[in-house]
Amino acid sequence: MLNRAKFLFATLSLVLWLDAGTSLAQQPPQQSSKHEQAQQKSQDPWWKHAVIYEIYPRSFQDSNGDGVGDINGITSRLDYIHDLGIDAIWISPMYPSPLIDFGYDISDYTAIDPLYGTLADFDHLVSEAKKRNIRVIMDFVPNHTSDQHPWFKESRSSRSNPKRDWYIWRDGNAMGQPPNNWQSWFGHSAWKLDPATNQYYYHHFYTEQPDLNWRNPQVRKAMYDAMRFWLKRGVAGFRIDAVSRLFEDPNLHDDPILPGKNAYGDPNIAHKYTDNLPEVHEVLREMRKVVNAYPGNPVMISEADEPNIAELAKMYGAKNDEVQLPMDFQIADVNKLSAPDFRRLLNEIDRNAVGGQPHYFFSNHDQPRQWDRYGDGVHNDQIAKLMAALLLATRATPLMYYGEELGMRTTEPARKEDVQDPIGKIGWPEEKGRDGERTPMQWDASTNAGFSASQRPWLPVPPSASIYNVVAESQDPKSILAFYKRLLALRRNEPALRDGRYLPLNQEDTNVLSFLRKEPGRGEAILVVLNMSAEPRTIKFDLSAHGVKGGSANPLLAAPEIGAESTQLNHFSVPAFGVFIGSVD
Ligand code: GLC
Repeated sequence: MLNRAKFLFATLSLVLWLDAGTSLAQQPPQQSSKHEQAQQKSQDPWWKHAVIYEIYPRSFQDSNGDGVGDINGITSRLDYIHDLGIDAIWISPMYPSPLIDFGYDISDYTAIDPLYGTLADFDHLVSEAKKRNIRVIMDFVPNHTSDQHPWFKESRSSRSNPKRDWYIWRDGNAMGQPPNNWQSWFGHSAWKLDPATNQYYYHHFYTEQPDLNWRNPQVRKAMYDAMRFWLKRGVAGFRIDAVSRLFEDPNLHDDPILPGKNAYGDPNIAHKYTDNLPEVHEVLREMRKVVNAYPGNPVMISEADEPNIAELAKMYGAKNDEVQLPMDFQIADVNKLSAPDFRRLLNEIDRNAVGGQPHYFFSNHDQPRQWDRYGDGVHNDQIAKLMAALLLATRATPLMYYGEELGMRTTEPARKEDVQDPIGKIGWPEEKGRDGERTPMQWDASTNAGFSASQRPWLPVPPSASIYNVVAESQDPKSILAFYKRLLALRRNEPALRDGRYLPLNQEDTNVLSFLRKEPGRGEAILVVLNMSAEPRTIKFDLSAHGVKGGSANPLLAAPEIGAESTQLNHFSVPAFGVFIGSVD
């Protein structure tokens, strides 16, 4: 079976072939912890210190028993999110939508789908979140609308409609076929013939997701106004969907065909003329100006699976005037426990030319969950802690996905008829879609894991929920959840771990990834050691080059747990898949 991680990975390697009023309402109230004091003194914007948590709203908490999660459900779980140690939540789309792509097909950018609640519910969520120092980040989908959006309905109504040029319409070729060979990311031709006007429209994703024409200034204005609508309501920024796909070659050059076929049975293709066109950056600079006009340092996070560090770094903008946090898909796509691979990528992004803030994640609503992706089938719980430390102890703004803190696993549908995600229907059985990583949050061991009172939640609750759930793990000090909580608390309270420099160590080591985090001011240093191999390792550290004179490290957090005694740096033992985080001086 070619799973989606592998499929996306394969697709990504093909891409490699290319030439390459927030209102003050969102200002958190004063707090007295060491963390908050440090934040208040710091000149840095909040997002540099934040831990962000993605919520897939259909799957987090159902408050009205219809089997689908909703806004009031999220609000009811804010205490959990706060106690976990989260600073901001990014919520996947909740706009009105026919739900072909479960919300990534939007039919109104300035409203809430009744399935999730009302605008009043949303305002309530933002204000309750604020009371707990949690910011709310909206998902924003600029590349395409739903085919049910009134703009598209107008556009398709006639060739002379004023909104015709809001989308990409073209005649078929001389043989009455689609205008060229461009392919949808979700399989088959990216062109769909619309009989009403006998022209084709372009859709990078599903046929029900026509691409907007970003060369049209009216489109830009309408979309920037939609961003302003949410900024005025107090959102702390946007996660911007599929941003590298905004433009296509106006001359419609065919994309280069590559050897082999993809999971949908189409020829492999390099998206040379439909992805990462330079015009994307002009739009990102304009969007940045839109968000910069609001107080509270709203953030832009971009989704774009950039093929290399040079392309990723471009997302920050040459003058740091584009996206503050471009998601690092290269690190997310390593897909194996490899100290050398992680080290190389961490080093590269840490040293990016414009000094942009790294932004790491391993799981999301499109990626198989990290518990199984990195697990070896035997030590998955220990490896989940290792991955937590890789995410939360490196120098970055980390992005978590709901349930990763529990060790939720990917649970794919067993039968085609159970599949919800259309790409699973198009690509079955090779491509089973993304249902596996979108199953309901596992709150407790009751029916439907406490997610919903419905007889039939929109996706089934995995059997593992009886053990891997919030209530059970809260009672077990050795659980994955307990480890995440301790690590998040450590990160909040140790400025070196949160903001310190990242200094890679023992760079030739093929098994153990280790680094120092060093605070610029007082020079406090924390040693992080991650054994990515299935064998115990004994290694040596010489930290004198980094101004560390002492010969031992005092443990702050380790998994498996160890005692409080300090560990000698010249004879440092770390168990299989072990994590050590300790202070050195
Ligand atoms: C992004 C979203 C994904 C969606 C696609 C099309 O990749 O993360 O879930 O299907 O865009 O909108």
